[in-house]
Amino acid sequence: MASELQRKWWKEGIVYQIYPRSFQDTTGNGIGDLRGIIQRLDYIKDLGVDIIWLNPVYVSPNDDNGYDIADYRNIMPEFGTMQDFDELLSGMKERGLKLIMDLVVNHSSDEHPWFIESRKSRDNPYRDYYHWWPAEDGVPPKRWSYFDVDGDAWNYDKTTNAYYLHIFSEKQPDLKWENPKVRKEVHDIMKFWFDKGVDGFRMDVISFISKDTEFPELPEKYQGDFVSFYTDGPKLHEYLHELHTEVLSKYDVMTVGEAPGIGLDKALDFVDESRGEMNMFFHFDLMALDREENEVFLMRKDPWKLTEFKKIHSEWDAVFAEKGWGSMFLNNHDFPRSVSRWGHDSRTHWFKSATMLQTFLLTMRGTPYFYYGEEIGMTNIKFENFSDYKDINTINRYHTIEMQGGDTKAFLENEKDASRDNARTPMQWDSSEHAGFSTIRPWLQVNENYKEGVNVSDQSEDAYSVLNYFRRMIQIRKDNLGLVYGDYQLLQQDNEEIYAYTRTAGASRFLVLLSFTTQRTSINLSELAFNKAKLLISNDDVQAVEGKTFPMYAYQACVYQLD
Ligand code: GLC
Repeated sequence: MASELQRKWWKEGIVYQIYPRSFQDTTGNGIGDLRGIIQRLDYIKDLGVDIIWLNPVYVSPNDDNGYDIADYRNIMPEFGTMQDFDELLSGMKERGLKLIMDLVVNHSSDEHPWFIESRKSRDNPYRDYYHWWPAEDGVPPKRWSYFDVDGDAWNYDKTTNAYYLHIFSEKQPDLKWENPKVRKEVHDIMKFWFDKGVDGFRMDVISFISKDTEFPELPEKYQGDFVSFYTDGPKLHEYLHELHTEVLSKYDVMTVGEAPGIGLDKALDFVDESRGEMNMFFHFDLMALDREENEVFLMRKDPWKLTEFKKIHSEWDAVFAEKGWGSMFLNNHDFPRSVSRWGHDSRTHWFKSATMLQTFLLTMRGTPYFYYGEEIGMTNIKFENFSDYKDINTINRYHTIEMQGGDTKAFLENEKDASRDNARTPMQWDSSEHAGFSTIRPWLQVNENYKEGVNVSDQSEDAYSVLNYFRRMIQIRKDNLGLVYGDYQLLQQDNEEIYAYTRTAGASRFLVLLSFTTQRTSINLSELAFNKAKLLISNDDVQAVEGKTFPMYAYQACVYQLD
């Protein structure tokens, strides 16, 4: 149990991610706001979570819902004021909750004063804050953009007869980290929020910040895999280390990088403590599991397999067994709802699979991240019509397909499972109109199943709800430090129905059994030495264990303490 030697609050804490636009509206404009979060702080505290991660709340024209920032030191008026923010932070501190913010500094908004200046003239003092390619040098080498309708990351700007780089939408120009002034700006922004008392940052696409500013033609080995190319920037680690030295090392804060494209082989380069970079990062191996290769938004044709799911988690656990630390998540604002994706959102299996997945996150090593609504088993909305969507990603990809004469119907089918809007529908507080989120029709439709028990108020009353299971399961993790730091051992890796593992910390040993099937099944664990298995929690009736055979109902989760 190597990591126990370095106990940290951010290893033991449980994170609750809030997408502020969708959490709670208090002004009656159909958009969530900071006062809404303040109003719900007791609820959040009662869940048993410790850390709130807020998606961006800064001033933004909202081309990409706040991931396009026009002022890093002020609050988006739709969400409230800096006073509201301060009140939120002090309300959290009073309750012993920590706050991490989203740091979006691979790019800014094109409406940020830096970019407004930068595009004015080639000799503007801010010119070098962004990546420009003079048009007299010809068309720049191909770079791929996520949200651009024609997939081109270079946008021609007539004022100065040059192209600027935007890996995301054309309203999200990439900042030029190679310029020390830009790095200094980032350091100052971070200090500004730390000095206010913020406890850390989730660092948006941090693996993309370093670029080869010569912009060579895309090397052969990256053809078809731009993501790996973007993460292979020459000075990435130099910049991360500098952030640590200049800023992070001076505060007791946590950092978790969003790191698309970072695989097992590079993991420790980011989080090995001795390197002084970041604490944790999100890898995307699980998020890629049900997608086509190198197509993170396209559902794969054949179903994903439990053995693949186990392999991903077992390998990632092993990487951090001695050094670094992992982060565990099943969904976030960029991916569909976990119960619809990894469980089963039919009436029959919804409760069991939602609670089984919670059990999984709360019994693995690594910091667990829950996304608002996951505690009540919120599901994908599966929009029928294109006009229901609000996400730039779905909208622009639809237009691309339309332009190319592609199959828009098939695309809309794909989006029912894949769209980011599945995860962004308003929080379901109660069974009143608009689910208690707002008094008017919200910015994005509410999932109708708020009327059928998928809401906080109904579930609070019910001892056997997803919500109350979540609270109990959190308590079990809190009571058993071995579930945080203990060694992980996978059992029966070839089993396609049950995910079984032990967690061991000194003399205490836990057995976790998770059924990922709609059928009754059982698992024989004769290979495991133990005298007694004492049940700590299950989401269903537990059938008698015969010898070492554990019968399991569909999507059942059981956690035992072994003697
Ligand atoms: C990250 C965010 C995503 C955003 C993108 C561009 O992937 O999580 O929501 O669209 O970066 O900032």
